[in-house]
Amino acid sequence: MLNTKTAGTTPASQTPDHVAIKPQRMGFEFGEQVPRYWLSDNYLLSHMMNALSVLFPQGEQFFVDSVREFRDQITDPKLKGEVRGFIGQEAMHSLEHIAMNQHVRDQGMPVEDMEKHLEVVLGIASKLPKRHRLAITCALEHMTAMMADMLLARDDVREDMHESMRPLWVWHAIEETEHKAVTFDVFQQVGGTYAERSFYLAFSTAALGVMATYFTTRMMLNDWKNFSVKDAGKGLWRMWGKNGTFSSLIPTWLEYFKPGFHPWDHDNSELIAQFKEQVLAHIAPQYRNGNRRTLQ
Ligand SMILES: [Fe+2]
Ligand SMILES: [Fe+2]
Repeated sequence: MLNTKTAGTTPASQTPDHVAIKPQRMGFEFGEQVPRYWLSDNYLLSHMMNALSVLFPQGEQFFVDSVREFRDQITDPKLKGEVRGFIGQEAMHSLEHIAMNQHVRDQGMPVEDMEKHLEVVLGIASKLPKRHRLAITCALEHMTAMMADMLLARDDVREDMHESMRPLWVWHAIEETEHKAVTFDVFQQVGGTYAERSFYLAFSTAALGVMATYFTTRMMLNDWKNFSVKDAGKGLWRMWGKNGTFSSLIPTWLEYFKPGFHPWDHDNSELIAQFKEQVLAHIAPQYRNGNRRTLQ
């Protein structure tokens, strides 16, 4: 049989063969062991990450829905399998973040309000043509992949997380790395253009920035009694200062605008191998046999 690689055409899937995309339910629990300011012991950073977590369940559902629209057009067996794995992984992420968001809600945060507002925004986005929705998904997957890479590659970023929260974020980062090219490869297969993906990276970054800032502000207002200028300043510097968690990502963000860009141009699969075993030790007993259904 003719190998597409040797025939000189680009294969449908460019995910390395040694990277498996398999869903795993973890069953993380969040209780009193989680300090209120679990990231760097910092008020602003902790509220910001809680805000991101609130975005995940509905956001990931949007990703899944946008890829499902094109499922029938994918004929390559490898990419077909990866789409299945992607859908399963994002569904598991939603469930684990729902558990985390319940914990944030229990702290008196207005999570329900935020979810309603997000529903309105995603409702508007869902009116866009389906390939544009897929371009949004690719853009947001690029951003999650670059944050995941940073979290796995930088010891200081992981160490800033309280140990009760770290496994969730490391596990999510591993799986975001595993499936980082799936929606991109689907987009390429269904005729997505350079103009579409470039426009939607700028658009999605702005939209995510507005939503994340709004949600973080809502959380902070709700916890205003603990506000401190010093803490907020430290948090802002950590994100946007020298070697900051966001400022350091700007060059990677820009790479997406290169005409021949592909998510696996940067092969960071060794980070998956480095952390996978460690994180799988955190699977709750009821999910160790591969069960993914919620048990009562
Ligand atoms: Fe995810
Ligand atoms: Fe993802």
